[in-house]
Amino acid sequence: MQFLASLLLAATAVQAHYTFPRLVVNGKAEEKDWSATRMTKNANSKQGIENPTVADIRCYQSQNAANVVTVPAGATIHYISTQQVNHPGPTQYYLAKVPSGASVTSWDGSGAVWFKIFTTMPKVDQNKQMTWPAQNEYKTVNATIPKATPDGDYLLRVEHIALHMASQANKAQFYLSCSQIKITGGGSGSPGPLAAFPGAYKSNDPGILVDLNKIAGAPDTYQPPGPAVWSG
Ligand SMILES: *[C@@H]1O[C@H](CO)[C@@H](O)[C@H](O)[C@H]1NC(C)=O
Repeated sequence: MQFLASLLLAATAVQAHYTFPRLVVNGKAEEKDWSATRMTKNANSKQGIENPTVADIRCYQSQNAANVVTVPAGATIHYISTQQVNHPGPTQYYLAKVPSGASVTSWDGSGAVWFKIFTTMPKVDQNKQMTWPAQNEYKTVNATIPKATPDGDYLLRVEHIALHMASQANKAQFYLSCSQIKITGGGSGSPGPLAAFPGAYKSNDPGILVDLNKIAGAPDTYQPPGPAVWSG
């Protein structure tokens, strides 16, 4: 009993929290952490955000970044994670176009400007074990920048929502960061629907206040929060 209790304690202590300090584009990572990706307030603590209606849900940033990464439309992107992304939950990517007259190195991403380009869904294996794409990896899942995305400067937002405690209100954990990018070779699409952060999520959205055990028999019924995906 004593042994079991200390095992459980140890397991709690190593419960992973994580940050996404480096964007990888077609296999090439930012040279160092937080160069085009804006440093987040949890860079040291690694704590997630639990209330999805706070201002930090947008980029969680403590400062802007110095660099801008060029991203060809159609490129494959992912993020390096500082820790294993071990919690169950979806990974989502959003883009927001920098308005004319503003700079990608200082624009704050406010307003209904964000469109979603990618999300993930759970799978359940024969043993009724639920898994999510890229779960337990030291990086986030790959996504493609839609070919039809118009050229220009954008903020790219990555998010992993940890749902292991999400059956209680404001206990989902949001891990995220935003990168400053320039999209080239793009198309003439009209991305949307557009949403604001905060605003896109409510604490009781069905994909945020959710008991994963209850959907284990029907993983396709999971509803990722936020607007529909724009795939170009
Ligand atoms: C993800 O993309 C990288 C290139 O950025 C590629 O090397 C890797 O094989 C891809 N992984 C998967 C699972 O498709």
